[in-house]
Amino acid sequence: MSSLSYPTPLYAHAGRGRFEDVYEPAEDSFLFIDALERDADELQGLSPSVCLEVGSGSGVVSAFLASVVGSSAFYLCTDVNSLAANCTATTATCNNVALQPVITDLVGGSGIEAAWAGGRRGREVIDRFLPMVTQLLSDQGLFYLVTIVENCPEEIIRLLGEGGLTAGPCLSRRAHNERLSVLRFHRTPPSTAVAS
Ligand SMILES: C[S@@+](CC[C@H](N)C(=O)[O-])C[C@H]1O[C@@H](n2cnc3c(N)ncnc32)[C@H](O)[C@@H]1O
Repeated sequence: MSSLSYPTPLYAHAGRGRFEDVYEPAEDSFLFIDALERDADELQGLSPSVCLEVGSGSGVVSAFLASVVGSSAFYLCTDVNSLAANCTATTATCNNVALQPVITDLVGGSGIEAAWAGGRRGREVIDRFLPMVTQLLSDQGLFYLVTIVENCPEEIIRLLGEGGLTAGPCLSRRAHNERLSVLRFHRTPPSTAVAS
């Protein structure tokens, strides 16, 4: 764990006023931020050139990552909600970081080195995204995924394992009636990959 602590980005504009219909940072967002803070040293060492957040909402998670990793990376933040893209841009300005919001379904592009996604509504979005992760994640990249128990995280770990990704340390917390987890994956080194 990093000995430095990083401030939570400013996000008071999210979930109210013109951004009323944007997801306001909640327990899942903060657990995600905690996982990134836990891995801060490793993420800095990785020195990613492209970071991608699918479903950025307010942009608070990417703003936090940008404050940890720094301005050498390009931060792509996708969301289907155009207001979320505007909110992410506002969050970037408020926190003096550069984020690139894109209004799109899931993601386009390639060569990502760190990626993460959040979802609280079943597996519909997650299941469409998982096959893309195994294609897009760079060799040294990390993929973070927020899940609840109902998403069957063990099954996600198995599915991504079949795609050549290994699950790393997980961070879990109970929030109200939900068991939230942030899963973390990296590419399975060729020498330890099991032939299928
Ligand atoms: C639960 S919010 C999480 C927001 C942010 N990641 C956070 O942790 O605070 C999920 C976000 O994903 C977006 N979303 C849902 N389906 C999507 C899709 N198919 N492609 C991109 N974004 C999507 C929603 O509009 C919403 O902003």
